[in-house]
Amino acid sequence: MTAATPFALSNEPPRPASHLFYMTRLRRPLVDRAEGIYLWDTQGRRMIDGSSGAMVVNVGHGNRAVIEAMKRQMERVTFAYRLHFENEPAEELARRMAEKMPGDLDRIFFVSGGSEAVESAIKLARQWAVVTGQANRWKVISRFPSYHGGTMGSLAVTGDLALTETFSPQIRDMPTIPAPRAYRDRDNFSMEERGIRYADMLEEKILAEGPESVLAFIMEPIGGAATAALVPPDSYFPRIREICDRYGILLIHDEVMTGAGRTGRYLGGDHWDCRPDIVTLSKGIGSGYAPLGAMAASRRLVKPVLDAGGFQHGYTYAGNPLSCAAGLAVLDETERLGCVDNAAAMGDLLKSELEQLSKRYPFVAGVRGKGLLIGADLVADPDTFAPLPKAKNANQRLIDLAYERGMIVYSRRIRGDGIEGDNFILAPPLIITAAQVGEMVSILADSLGALAAELDLPVNR
Ligand SMILES: Cc1ncc(COP(=O)(O)O)c(C=O)c1O
Repeated sequence: MTAATPFALSNEPPRPASHLFYMTRLRRPLVDRAEGIYLWDTQGRRMIDGSSGAMVVNVGHGNRAVIEAMKRQMERVTFAYRLHFENEPAEELARRMAEKMPGDLDRIFFVSGGSEAVESAIKLARQWAVVTGQANRWKVISRFPSYHGGTMGSLAVTGDLALTETFSPQIRDMPTIPAPRAYRDRDNFSMEERGIRYADMLEEKILAEGPESVLAFIMEPIGGAATAALVPPDSYFPRIREICDRYGILLIHDEVMTGAGRTGRYLGGDHWDCRPDIVTLSKGIGSGYAPLGAMAASRRLVKPVLDAGGFQHGYTYAGNPLSCAAGLAVLDETERLGCVDNAAAMGDLLKSELEQLSKRYPFVAGVRGKGLLIGADLVADPDTFAPLPKAKNANQRLIDLAYERGMIVYSRRIRGDGIEGDNFILAPPLIITAAQVGEMVSILADSLGALAAELDLPVNR
């Protein structure tokens, strides 16, 4: 392995103006190649992929078995439209995924990404309600903050004002309840009591909206981009299911980020007994080798919809043979390499190292997460979780300082409803070794030290 050459973002060689545009004007180095947990740019500089891209590359970069499986599929057929042909990789992947789903969620609908999976879940739920004589039900309650995607339907259930505000006149407003950020609460209740209190907010919202109008509740079992690996108290899950059952409301688990082994179980929800009606997946199931997403739904929902004439929904690339061949090989590699158990073991190590760092850098607070989805807040006061002043731009500075030291850190700022603040996630590929966790921790420690110096934050020596 070549030694890491530091990136100097301020000193990037000039490049011609680009015709491409994404979220910001920020330019980044050109990627050249990738292997395992590392990426190299065209100047040969190495970077640790500390967030698996956007929590995507679960089996690591450059996996030969996945690449070979894709090559074999490309030699056979790369596209056949699902209304003209069925294909073996899609059939087989659906069978294998159904085995991994909880309860009777053995009906699989493939898409190309997470937003499409969430759209599909909302539309299947709605169509099920219509064909079973419950056409009044249309509201999908979600949590604030949360992230469920960038398309209009998934944005309607996303709790992040920075992303939704501009589009609000075009989106049908959906009700929200607070995300169970019990770790921040300063009251006399136990964590378990807080879990019940947060879950009961769902019941209060259902009653306020009118139970007959509520279709579904969507949640990330373990938080992603919006809450940086938020883990609810154990008591939250059974209570949520109980409330959904009481009012005939469907429970959708958005496992786009937490699925495919990321949290040390195949699904994030597998840490609890939660029985969702629909699960959405993407990111790790294609592991960055091909755009792939899926919705797994209970037979109980799918059968009446198909009996009534069919699911009025679909995408051109749904069930694409190349994407599904990649997905199958990713699943094989996930099992062969023991990725799920490794995520649990390496996640414990990374989390305990981050807890140690938070003692030295007390502006890192609320270390949380499961498996290799570990998060923390960047705060002004670790006791009250008071956010850092916005002007300090802590989230972007942490990204840049780590980047300059050769590691990608995923960091966000959440705003709105008085729960503002910076956070970050560590989520390397699930094949990471203990030595590589050490490498990550040392770059992070160095970056946090630089952040403290630059923003005048406290350090315990
Ligand atoms: C929980 C969750 N749902 C949905 C999405 C949207 O996925 P995509 O960006 O693939 O459309 C994301 C993406 O980060 C996510 O984390």
